[in-house]
Amino acid sequence: MKKLILDVDIGVDDAQALMIAVTAPDVEILGITCCHGNTSLDNVLKNTLRVLQVCNRLDIPVYKGFSRPLLASKQHASDYHGKDGLGDVPDPDAPGLDLLKKKKAAQAMLKIARENPGEVTLVATAPLTNLAVAVQLDPSFPKKLKALYIMGGNTDSRGNTTVCGEFNFVADPEAAYIVLDRYTCPTYIAAWEFCCRSSISWSFWDEWLSTNTKKAAFIKKISTLSMKKARSAEYQKEVVAGKGFNPCDVFALAAAVDDGFITESEEVAVTVELDGRNTRGMMVMDYMEQLKKDHKAVIIKSVDLEKLKKMLFRAVQ
Ligand code: BDR
Repeated sequence: MKKLILDVDIGVDDAQALMIAVTAPDVEILGITCCHGNTSLDNVLKNTLRVLQVCNRLDIPVYKGFSRPLLASKQHASDYHGKDGLGDVPDPDAPGLDLLKKKKAAQAMLKIARENPGEVTLVATAPLTNLAVAVQLDPSFPKKLKALYIMGGNTDSRGNTTVCGEFNFVADPEAAYIVLDRYTCPTYIAAWEFCCRSSISWSFWDEWLSTNTKKAAFIKKISTLSMKKARSAEYQKEVVAGKGFNPCDVFALAAAVDDGFITESEEVAVTVELDGRNTRGMMVMDYMEQLKKDHKAVIIKSVDLEKLKKMLFRAVQ
Protein backbone atom coordinates (compact mmCIF):
# COMPACT_ATOMS: atom_id res chain seq x y z
CA MET A 1 0.00 0.00 0.00
CA LYS A 2 1.42 3.42 -0.97
CA LYS A 3 0.89 6.09 1.67
CA LEU A 4 0.54 9.63 0.35
CA ILE A 5 0.38 13.20 1.56
CA LEU A 6 -0.85 15.57 -1.16
CA ASP A 7 0.16 19.23 -0.90
CA VAL A 8 -2.20 21.12 -3.21
CA ASP A 9 -3.50 24.49 -4.41
CA ILE A 10 -6.60 23.12 -6.14
CA GLY A 11 -6.79 24.26 -9.27
CA VAL A 12 -8.20 22.37 -12.25
CA ASP A 13 -5.20 20.06 -12.78
CA ASP A 14 -4.79 19.52 -9.01
CA ALA A 15 -8.46 18.45 -8.99
CA GLN A 16 -7.78 15.94 -11.75
CA ALA A 17 -4.74 14.66 -9.85
CA LEU A 18 -6.73 14.28 -6.63
CA MET A 19 -9.42 12.33 -8.47
CA ILE A 20 -6.75 9.95 -9.78
CA ALA A 21 -5.25 9.58 -6.31
CA VAL A 22 -8.52 8.58 -4.65
CA THR A 23 -9.19 5.92 -7.29
CA ALA A 24 -5.66 4.53 -7.65
CA PRO A 25 -5.29 0.94 -6.47
CA ASP A 26 -3.21 0.29 -3.33
CA VAL A 27 -3.02 3.95 -2.40
CA GLU A 28 -3.94 5.45 0.95
CA ILE A 29 -4.13 9.26 1.26
CA LEU A 30 -3.09 10.08 4.82
CA GLY A 31 -3.70 13.79 4.48
CA ILE A 32 -4.19 16.68 2.10
CA THR A 33 -2.34 19.88 2.99
CA CYS A 34 -3.52 23.07 1.33
CA CYS A 35 -1.44 26.03 0.21
CA HIS A 36 -2.01 29.40 -1.49
CA GLY A 37 -1.29 29.30 -5.21
CA ASN A 38 -3.71 28.94 -8.09
CA THR A 39 -6.21 30.83 -5.95
CA SER A 40 -6.52 32.12 -2.37
CA LEU A 41 -6.04 29.65 0.47
CA ASP A 42 -9.73 29.86 1.43
CA ASN A 43 -10.74 28.93 -2.11
CA VAL A 44 -8.17 26.11 -2.14
CA LEU A 45 -9.65 24.70 1.07
CA LYS A 46 -13.17 24.92 -0.33
CA ASN A 47 -12.10 23.42 -3.67
CA THR A 48 -10.39 20.50 -1.96
CA LEU A 49 -13.55 19.69 -0.04
CA ARG A 50 -15.65 20.08 -3.20
CA VAL A 51 -13.51 17.51 -5.04
CA LEU A 52 -13.57 15.13 -2.08
CA GLN A 53 -17.35 15.49 -1.86
CA VAL A 54 -17.78 14.51 -5.52
CA CYS A 55 -15.50 11.53 -4.89
CA ASN A 56 -17.39 10.59 -1.74
CA ARG A 57 -14.15 10.84 0.25
CA LEU A 58 -14.76 13.58 2.78
CA ASP A 59 -13.23 11.18 5.31
CA ILE A 60 -9.72 12.17 4.09
CA PRO A 61 -8.22 14.73 6.51
CA VAL A 62 -7.66 18.20 5.03
CA TYR A 63 -5.28 20.71 6.66
CA LYS A 64 -4.91 24.46 6.28
CA GLY A 65 -1.48 25.65 5.23
CA PHE A 66 0.02 29.00 4.34
CA SER A 67 -2.02 31.75 2.73
CA ARG A 68 1.01 33.58 1.32
CA PRO A 69 4.59 32.95 0.20
CA LEU A 70 7.58 33.24 2.56
CA LEU A 71 8.90 36.54 1.13
CA ALA A 72 7.49 37.10 -2.36
CA SER A 73 4.27 38.95 -3.14
CA LYS A 74 1.22 36.78 -3.34
CA GLN A 75 0.05 35.80 -6.83
CA HIS A 76 -2.65 33.54 -8.23
CA ALA A 77 -3.31 31.91 -11.61
CA SER A 78 -6.87 33.25 -11.97
CA ASP A 79 -6.64 33.82 -15.72
CA TYR A 80 -6.29 30.13 -16.27
CA HIS A 81 -8.11 28.47 -13.34
CA GLY A 82 -10.72 31.17 -12.70
CA LYS A 83 -10.91 33.50 -9.71
CA ASP A 84 -12.16 30.69 -7.47
CA GLY A 85 -9.59 28.23 -8.89
CA LEU A 86 -12.21 25.90 -10.31
CA GLY A 87 -13.55 27.71 -13.35
CA ASP A 88 -15.91 30.11 -11.53
CA VAL A 89 -18.97 27.90 -11.66
CA PRO A 90 -21.29 28.30 -8.68
CA ASP A 91 -21.51 25.37 -6.26
CA PRO A 92 -24.23 26.03 -3.69
CA ASP A 93 -23.71 22.55 -2.17
CA ALA A 94 -20.00 23.03 -1.40
CA PRO A 95 -19.09 21.58 2.02
CA GLY A 96 -18.32 24.02 4.83
CA LEU A 97 -14.81 24.72 6.10
CA ASP A 98 -15.83 23.34 9.52
CA LEU A 99 -14.76 19.95 8.09
CA LEU A 100 -11.11 21.00 8.17
CA LYS A 101 -8.74 19.50 10.74
CA LYS A 102 -7.50 21.84 13.46
CA LYS A 103 -3.81 21.00 13.01
CA LYS A 104 -1.89 23.22 10.58
CA ALA A 105 -0.50 21.74 7.33
CA ALA A 106 3.22 21.79 8.18
CA GLN A 107 2.64 20.21 11.59
CA ALA A 108 0.32 17.61 10.08
CA MET A 109 3.01 16.62 7.55
CA LEU A 110 5.54 16.17 10.36
CA LYS A 111 3.17 14.10 12.48
CA ILE A 112 2.13 11.82 9.60
CA ALA A 113 5.78 11.21 8.64
CA ARG A 114 6.76 10.60 12.28
CA GLU A 115 4.02 7.97 12.59
CA ASN A 116 4.94 6.27 9.28
CA PRO A 117 8.73 6.59 9.02
CA GLY A 118 10.12 5.76 5.58
CA GLU A 119 6.67 5.03 4.19
CA VAL A 120 5.17 8.35 3.15
CA THR A 121 5.37 9.75 -0.38
CA LEU A 122 4.76 13.50 -0.52
CA VAL A 123 3.28 14.84 -3.75
CA ALA A 124 3.59 18.62 -4.07
CA THR A 125 1.59 20.34 -6.81
CA ALA A 126 1.47 23.85 -5.31
CA PRO A 127 3.97 26.55 -4.38
CA LEU A 128 6.30 24.90 -1.85
CA THR A 129 5.62 27.12 1.18
CA ASN A 130 4.20 24.36 3.43
CA LEU A 131 7.12 22.05 2.62
CA ALA A 132 9.69 24.78 3.29
CA VAL A 133 8.21 25.53 6.70
CA ALA A 134 7.95 21.82 7.57
CA VAL A 135 11.68 21.28 7.02
CA GLN A 136 12.53 24.42 9.00
CA LEU A 137 10.48 23.06 11.91
CA ASP A 138 12.03 19.61 11.69
CA PRO A 139 15.21 19.27 9.59
CA SER A 140 14.91 15.47 9.84
CA PHE A 141 11.50 15.48 8.09
CA PRO A 142 12.83 14.68 4.56
CA LYS A 143 14.73 11.66 5.90
CA LYS A 144 11.45 10.24 7.21
CA LEU A 145 9.85 10.41 3.75
CA LYS A 146 9.98 7.64 1.19
CA ALA A 147 10.01 10.12 -1.70
CA LEU A 148 8.96 13.55 -2.87
CA TYR A 149 7.26 14.27 -6.21
CA ILE A 150 7.06 17.89 -7.33
CA MET A 151 5.23 19.54 -10.21
CA GLY A 152 7.19 22.71 -10.68
CA GLY A 153 10.22 24.42 -12.09
CA ASN A 154 11.51 24.43 -15.60
CA THR A 155 14.39 22.84 -17.46
CA ASP A 156 14.91 25.06 -20.51
CA SER A 157 14.32 28.53 -19.12
CA ARG A 158 10.87 28.48 -20.66
CA GLY A 159 8.44 30.21 -18.33
CA ASN A 160 4.70 30.16 -18.03
CA THR A 161 4.52 32.96 -15.46
CA THR A 162 7.65 35.05 -15.94
CA VAL A 163 10.06 34.97 -18.89
CA CYS A 164 11.92 32.01 -17.40
CA GLY A 165 9.80 30.88 -14.48
CA GLU A 166 7.13 28.26 -13.89
CA PHE A 167 4.18 29.23 -11.66
CA ASN A 168 4.70 27.01 -8.57
CA PHE A 169 8.35 28.08 -8.21
CA VAL A 170 7.79 31.72 -9.10
CA ALA A 171 4.90 31.94 -6.63
CA ASP A 172 7.34 31.22 -3.78
CA PRO A 173 10.98 31.16 -4.99
CA GLU A 174 12.48 31.07 -1.48
CA ALA A 175 10.35 28.06 -0.55
CA ALA A 176 11.35 26.25 -3.76
CA TYR A 177 15.00 27.03 -3.01
CA ILE A 178 14.74 25.63 0.52
CA VAL A 179 12.97 22.49 -0.64
CA LEU A 180 15.47 21.70 -3.41
CA ASP A 181 18.30 22.36 -0.97
CA ARG A 182 17.05 20.50 2.09
CA TYR A 183 14.91 17.59 0.88
CA THR A 184 17.47 14.85 0.48
CA CYS A 185 14.93 12.06 0.04
CA PRO A 186 14.48 10.69 -3.50
CA THR A 187 13.01 13.70 -5.33
CA TYR A 188 11.22 13.52 -8.69
CA ILE A 189 10.42 16.67 -10.65
CA ALA A 190 7.80 17.10 -13.37
CA ALA A 191 8.94 20.43 -14.79
CA TRP A 192 6.95 22.71 -17.08
CA GLU A 193 8.61 21.85 -20.41
CA PHE A 194 8.27 18.10 -19.83
CA CYS A 195 4.56 18.61 -19.03
CA CYS A 196 4.05 20.61 -22.23
CA ARG A 197 5.85 17.99 -24.33
CA SER A 198 3.56 15.37 -22.81
CA SER A 199 0.30 17.17 -23.64
CA ILE A 200 -2.53 14.78 -24.51
CA SER A 201 -4.63 15.25 -27.66
CA TRP A 202 -7.92 17.11 -27.56
CA SER A 203 -9.76 14.08 -28.91
CA PHE A 204 -8.82 12.20 -25.73
CA TRP A 205 -10.08 15.01 -23.46
CA ASP A 206 -13.33 15.35 -25.42
CA GLU A 207 -14.00 11.64 -24.97
CA TRP A 208 -12.96 11.70 -21.32
CA LEU A 209 -15.20 14.63 -20.48
CA SER A 210 -18.18 12.98 -22.16
CA THR A 211 -18.06 10.03 -19.75
CA ASN A 212 -21.54 9.70 -18.37
CA THR A 213 -20.86 9.95 -14.62
CA LYS A 214 -21.35 12.52 -11.88
CA LYS A 215 -17.58 12.89 -11.49
CA ALA A 216 -17.07 13.52 -15.22
CA ALA A 217 -19.88 16.10 -15.21
CA PHE A 218 -18.15 17.87 -12.32
CA ILE A 219 -14.75 17.86 -13.98
CA LYS A 220 -16.27 19.06 -17.28
CA LYS A 221 -17.96 21.95 -15.49
CA ILE A 222 -14.82 23.09 -13.64
CA SER A 223 -12.49 22.57 -16.64
CA THR A 224 -14.45 24.55 -19.23
CA LEU A 225 -12.66 27.85 -18.63
CA SER A 226 -9.10 26.49 -18.53
CA MET A 227 -9.66 24.17 -21.48
CA LYS A 228 -11.04 27.09 -23.52
CA LYS A 229 -7.95 29.07 -22.62
CA ALA A 230 -5.66 26.11 -23.41
CA ARG A 231 -7.29 25.61 -26.82
CA SER A 232 -6.75 29.22 -27.84
CA ALA A 233 -4.15 29.99 -30.47
CA GLU A 234 -2.46 32.46 -28.14
CA TYR A 235 -1.93 29.82 -25.45
CA GLN A 236 -0.88 27.13 -27.92
CA LYS A 237 1.92 29.42 -29.06
CA GLU A 238 3.19 29.59 -25.49
CA VAL A 239 3.43 25.85 -24.89
CA VAL A 240 6.28 23.72 -26.17
CA ALA A 241 4.32 21.21 -28.22
CA GLY A 242 0.93 22.87 -28.35
CA LYS A 243 -0.84 19.75 -29.47
CA GLY A 244 -3.36 19.25 -26.69
CA PHE A 245 -4.12 19.79 -23.02
CA ASN A 246 -1.35 19.66 -20.47
CA PRO A 247 -2.58 18.43 -17.06
CA CYS A 248 0.71 19.32 -15.26
CA ASP A 249 -0.10 18.20 -11.72
CA VAL A 250 -1.45 14.89 -12.94
CA PHE A 251 2.04 13.88 -14.13
CA ALA A 252 3.60 14.23 -10.68
CA LEU A 253 0.75 12.34 -9.05
CA ALA A 254 0.74 9.53 -11.61
CA ALA A 255 4.50 9.09 -11.19
CA ALA A 256 4.03 8.80 -7.42
CA VAL A 257 1.30 6.16 -7.56
CA ASP A 258 2.67 4.02 -10.39
CA ASP A 259 6.33 2.97 -10.30
CA GLY A 260 6.35 2.11 -14.01
CA PHE A 261 4.94 5.43 -15.18
CA ILE A 262 8.26 7.22 -15.76
CA THR A 263 9.93 5.86 -18.90
CA GLU A 264 12.92 8.22 -19.10
CA SER A 265 14.61 10.50 -16.59
CA GLU A 266 17.94 12.05 -15.69
CA GLU A 267 19.57 12.81 -12.35
CA VAL A 268 21.02 16.25 -11.78
CA ALA A 269 21.49 18.63 -8.86
CA VAL A 270 19.07 21.54 -9.04
CA THR A 271 18.51 24.85 -7.33
CA VAL A 272 16.41 27.98 -7.78
CA GLU A 273 17.55 31.43 -8.86
CA LEU A 274 16.53 34.01 -6.26
CA ASP A 275 18.05 37.24 -7.54
CA GLY A 276 17.78 37.70 -11.31
CA ARG A 277 15.60 40.45 -12.77
CA ASN A 278 14.14 38.06 -15.38
CA THR A 279 15.16 34.76 -13.82
CA ARG A 280 13.93 34.91 -10.20
CA GLY A 281 12.12 31.64 -9.47
CA MET A 282 13.71 29.79 -12.38
CA MET A 283 15.01 26.27 -11.72
CA VAL A 284 18.74 25.93 -12.42
CA MET A 285 20.24 22.60 -13.51
CA ASP A 286 23.80 22.06 -12.31
CA TYR A 287 25.12 19.78 -15.06
CA MET A 288 28.73 20.81 -14.39
CA GLU A 289 28.37 20.04 -10.67
CA GLN A 290 29.68 23.45 -9.73
CA LEU A 291 27.34 23.71 -6.76
CA LYS A 292 28.92 20.61 -5.18
CA LYS A 293 25.56 19.31 -4.04
CA ASP A 294 25.47 15.67 -2.94
CA HIS A 295 21.79 15.31 -3.65
CA LYS A 296 20.51 14.97 -7.20
CA ALA A 297 16.90 15.20 -8.24
CA VAL A 298 15.32 12.90 -10.79
CA ILE A 299 14.09 15.05 -13.66
CA ILE A 300 11.24 13.31 -15.46
CA LYS A 301 11.74 13.31 -19.23
CA SER A 302 9.04 11.01 -20.54
CA VAL A 303 6.17 8.92 -19.24
CA ASP A 304 3.70 6.24 -20.33
CA LEU A 305 0.75 8.29 -21.55
CA GLU A 306 -1.39 5.24 -22.27
CA LYS A 307 -1.20 4.34 -18.57
CA LEU A 308 -2.18 7.89 -17.71
CA LYS A 309 -5.25 7.75 -19.93
CA LYS A 310 -6.38 4.60 -18.09
CA MET A 311 -5.86 6.34 -14.74
CA LEU A 312 -7.89 9.32 -15.93
CA PHE A 313 -10.78 7.12 -17.08
CA ARG A 314 -10.73 5.23 -13.76
CA ALA A 315 -10.78 8.57 -11.94
CA VAL A 316 -14.15 9.58 -13.36
CA GLN A 317 -15.90 6.21 -12.96
C1 BDR B 1 1.44 24.70 -12.22
O1 BDR B 1 0.85 25.95 -11.89
C2 BDR B 1 -0.51 25.80 -11.68
O2 BDR B 1 -1.26 26.74 -12.39
C3 BDR B 1 -0.89 24.38 -12.04
O3 BDR B 1 -1.87 23.94 -11.14
C4 BDR B 1 0.41 23.65 -11.90
O4 BDR B 1 0.60 23.23 -10.58
C5 BDR B 1 1.91 24.75 -13.66
O5 BDR B 1 2.88 25.74 -13.80
